[in-house]
Amino acid sequence: MIADANRGPAGDSRADGPIAIFDSGIGGLPYLEPARAALPAESFVYLADRADFPYGTKTRSEVRSIVLRLMDLLVEDYAPKAVVIACNTASQAALEAARKAHPGLPIVGTVPAVKPAAERTRSGVIGVMATEGATRDPYLDSLIARYAKGVTVIKESAQDLVSFVERRAVAAGPEERREAVRPFVRSLVERGADEIVLACTHYTHLRAEIAEVAGPGVEVVDSRAGVASRLRQVLEGMDLLRSPGTASAPRDGLPPETGGVFLLSGDPPFEEEYGLLAAAFGLEGPRALARAIG
Ligand code: DGL
Repeated sequence: MIADANRGPAGDSRADGPIAIFDSGIGGLPYLEPARAALPAESFVYLADRADFPYGTKTRSEVRSIVLRLMDLLVEDYAPKAVVIACNTASQAALEAARKAHPGLPIVGTVPAVKPAAERTRSGVIGVMATEGATRDPYLDSLIARYAKGVTVIKESAQDLVSFVERRAVAAGPEERREAVRPFVRSLVERGADEIVLACTHYTHLRAEIAEVAGPGVEVVDSRAGVASRLRQVLEGMDLLRSPGTASAPRDGLPPETGGVFLLSGDPPFEEEYGLLAAAFGLEGPRALARAIG
């Protein structure tokens, strides 16, 4: 019998599996939009690991253990054909370890868009907004040394903004959102940055306000489009794309027609905001991760 690497034990095609995306919270949700546009026939499992939130104040090895545990849970329960670590802090700390632990499983990480920002700056100064952990991670320094030679890079730790997004993304009005981003953005612009890299996925929820406060001469860059096209490229390369019009494979707790499911770690009942966010991003849920696994 010839073994087919792209078929599971029951003969189900590996291409039928969902794409799993996770973050410490809701930061990775905006990554779904370009991923869906690039991969319209796929279904998604989104996990917000709010039980371990926030990652940015933890050590590298703490974040690595969390990521490895979540990867195991997702793989065991959902047999994803690919995983996106939609979190810069987690990607910087654990992408390599996750790939080692799951050889053969395509894992796409989120890398700060330092390279395009360094290529496009006219002032020669770029700002990188990230979590506490990500700003001091040696990975970011190596990225800067490699792709931003001759450019001044200002690292702005904006951990408070992560909590703001997690608590207030749904409820905050435009003025509150602008107020939340203002100190971080002004500090970068006043020091000459004309490119602002959103190196924490949570900030993509505030992209419009960051651009507004920064003003017309400043470009705001994030990695959403890059992650979506990398994901497509990797799946295509491994012949794992679903054919258009194919219904989602029936998986545990995942209705065949769904565009995806929103999982939360921690215990229900979950705040109403998570339901609103799930609906806004076309996902079913929220459901408890533990229950989905059990
Ligand atoms: N959204 C995550 C990131 O991109 C993590 C934020 C946190 O949990 O501190 O870095």
